[in-house]
Amino acid sequence: MGRRNLSLPVFSVIMALLSFLFSSAHGDMSYTVPEETKAQYVIGNIAKDLGLDAVKLKTRKARVETEDSSKRYVDINFNSGELVVSETIDREKLCGSRLNCILNYELVLENPLELQRVSLNIQDINDNAPKFINERKNFEIHESADKGQRFRLDEAHDYDIGQNGVNAYFLQKNDHFFLSVQENKNGRKYAELVLDKELDREQQKDIELILTAVDGGIPQRSGTAVIHITVLDANDNVPVFSQSVYKAVLAENAPIETEVVTVRAEDADEGANGAVTYEFSRISDNAGQLFTINKLTGQITVAGNIDYEEEKYYEIGVQAKDGSGLASTATVIIDITDVNDNAPKIIIKSLNNPLPENVIVGTEVAIINVQDKDSGDNRQIRCSIQGNVPFKLNPSIKNYFSLVTTSLLDRETESDYNLTLTATDGGSPPLSTSMTIHLSVSDINDNPPVFEQQSYTAYVMENNKPGTSISSVSARDPDWRQNGTVVYSLVAGEINGAPVNSFLTVNSDTGVIHAVKSFDYEKFRNFKVQVVARDNGSPPLSSNVTVSVLVSDENDNSPQILYPAPEGKSLMTEMVPKAALSGALLSKVIAVDADSGQNAWLSYQILKSTDPGLFSIGLHSGEIRAQRDVAESDSMKQTLVISVKDNGQPPLSATCSVYLLISDNLAEVPELKDMTYEENNSKLTFYLIIALVSVSTFFLTFIILILAVRFCHRRKPRLLFDGAVAIPSAYLPPNYAEVEGAGTLRSSYNYDTYLTTGSRTSDFKFITSYNDATLTAGGTLKKVQDETLAASLITLNNITDEEVRNQHPVFTLHLYYGCS
Ligand SMILES: *[C@@H]1O[C@H](CO)[C@@H](O)[C@H](O)[C@H]1NC(C)=O
Ligand SMILES: *[C@@H]1O[C@H](CO)[C@@H](O)[C@H](O)[C@H]1NC(C)=O
Ligand SMILES: *[C@@H]1O[C@H](CO)[C@@H](O)[C@H](O)[C@H]1NC(C)=O
Repeated sequence: MGRRNLSLPVFSVIMALLSFLFSSAHGDMSYTVPEETKAQYVIGNIAKDLGLDAVKLKTRKARVETEDSSKRYVDINFNSGELVVSETIDREKLCGSRLNCILNYELVLENPLELQRVSLNIQDINDNAPKFINERKNFEIHESADKGQRFRLDEAHDYDIGQNGVNAYFLQKNDHFFLSVQENKNGRKYAELVLDKELDREQQKDIELILTAVDGGIPQRSGTAVIHITVLDANDNVPVFSQSVYKAVLAENAPIETEVVTVRAEDADEGANGAVTYEFSRISDNAGQLFTINKLTGQITVAGNIDYEEEKYYEIGVQAKDGSGLASTATVIIDITDVNDNAPKIIIKSLNNPLPENVIVGTEVAIINVQDKDSGDNRQIRCSIQGNVPFKLNPSIKNYFSLVTTSLLDRETESDYNLTLTATDGGSPPLSTSMTIHLSVSDINDNPPVFEQQSYTAYVMENNKPGTSISSVSARDPDWRQNGTVVYSLVAGEINGAPVNSFLTVNSDTGVIHAVKSFDYEKFRNFKVQVVARDNGSPPLSSNVTVSVLVSDENDNSPQILYPAPEGKSLMTEMVPKAALSGALLSKVIAVDADSGQNAWLSYQILKSTDPGLFSIGLHSGEIRAQRDVAESDSMKQTLVISVKDNGQPPLSATCSVYLLISDNLAEVPELKDMTYEENNSKLTFYLIIALVSVSTFFLTFIILILAVRFCHRRKPRLLFDGAVAIPSAYLPPNYAEVEGAGTLRSSYNYDTYLTTGSRTSDFKFITSYNDATLTAGGTLKKVQDETLAASLITLNNITDEEVRNQHPVFTLHLYYGCS
């Protein structure tokens, strides 16, 4: 069997060399045995090879010895003469990685001693698998490693040799590496990892690959190792935001630290390379005051006062940066929503103040603008006026209102208005604002002065001092300042032909009326003037009022005795029949008083008489009557001193003497000389009588002529008389000329003459009758006066009350004339 192997050339050379070395010792014996065979494995038949039989070997004490007395592994089976394995041989243990593993023995034979070289060639069998020293191999490879980069791997070791040694390597299939097997100088194979595709730590940070080494034996054996590759990070990733645009909605006035939005960026890198910090990359100054970003968490919060009215939306750039400065950005859009935080504003754009009171309804007074900074419903504004005022708001163009009047204004009623405007927005809750407009109404001269009374009556005593104030008028004008300033004046006119202002003046400021001159009741009893009150407006307004001036009587006239003639100037003697009985009317004293009323109410009294008790006088009639029957014994000549006194305060009086002659016979008249008055006067008296009669006759004729002439011209007034003596007004005392109104005698006077009978006296009434229409407002007083006058008439003339009243208003002139 061993021979078989000798055919190998190398082996042959070695054997030849060995044969030469051992030629002196009968040639060498060579065997081959595979390793790992069990004991008693037959290596070869040594006896046969020596040419001996087996017994001989035993007898010659053949034995195998090692050269250095080390382990033998083989033995001789003496029964068969074979060389057998005594102990399992491990080639790898004996020879390691040597290619030839030959054990050399000496076969010793005794009798004769013979020494034979024996070499045992141990044949390798594939009993060892390839093996890696480290079954786990760690690599750290940067993810940035380039393609093609090589990484040397450990060799695998196989104790076997030759074909049985490591023959090939295989790498588990993977994405990144392939294996390149190389052979080093001593022919051993090793492998290299070659990067075929770049690594990405972020995708796979650990890679485990199984490397297999196989040998060439049969059966083939293999060994594996795990290659663990840790992919080292390179900062190859920028942080990536989860969104490129973040949108947030934020209500205005959000409190500080309210979260707006949180941005988030991921960095696939590790450690510092993946540590992301956030900051604003682009932000307006304004927004910079309002928002902050948390560096670490990316939370954006409110840091200031968010005001929708200032900015409705913010666009902010945010940046995420990793530890080594790789950065990316995103945009944050913050929409601010409105909150009703602004009250409306009221702005007066124009104002017509003051406003004249005569503006028509609907006049525009002001233009009002309302504003609200909020938006949407929060800026829908309603506007109203508070209170019940004659103004309203008319909506005009957008957000404008015009304030107009809704009724006529009257400054005199309401001179100013406080208009409270309220604007309310449509938010919830709504906000509102109020504003007060003070509006004045300016005056227009629209009110004439108005007198406090419809008419005025002034009473003035006659004989007043010039300049005394007799009355005052007052008018009110509610207008403002000069439009309401009243100035009084008299309406120009004439009284009795004289200008009004010669009678009265009025104080233009106070309305006090002064008499200019002294009035005489006996000339004017009343008159009327008109006073105008005029304001100072332009144009001025005025009104007028009638002032009736009533002059009242003063007892300034003493009674005037018409009959008999004043004492000392009369020679008239009344004849008294001797047969006059008690109560017989003998004579009458006629007196008048220019005053009126009480001042003219006369009473008669006998002051002194020749024979007291014989005569009496009617207190008011002035009739002298016999108090008893006249007797023969009574003195023929009787003298009565009579006083006539009016009823004024103080009373005024006059006296006269009445001469009575009790006689039936005119022959007794010469005895007049015996009368009490002086004889030397008789002649003078006589002449005086003649003169008086002549003058009277002449005068009467003259009057009749004048009247006739007047009658022819105007037919009115007519003076009617019926045989009796009519005394014309010219003869009458001055106060009997009635003054009315402006003091002129009215042309429509009716003159009526009445002749009264019932006594021997001739008395007549002179009655002036006025048209009723001439009665003025002052009539009441006049009526009272008239009644007083009438009352006295009734007493004096036995005129019935009815007669007087029916004639009313009547001014009665009565005259008692003559004592018979
Ligand atoms: C308006 O207001 C003023 C001041 O507040 C006040 O003096 C005046 O009397 C008021 N007028 C009216 C008409 O209320
Ligand atoms: C008086 O009224 C007139 C118009 O009639 C007006 O123009 C004027 O201003 C008023 N005067 C005053 C002081 O109000
Ligand atoms: C007085 O007033 C009346 C009406 O009130 C008027 O008709 C008349 O003209 C006025 N007279 C004067 C002088 O103003």
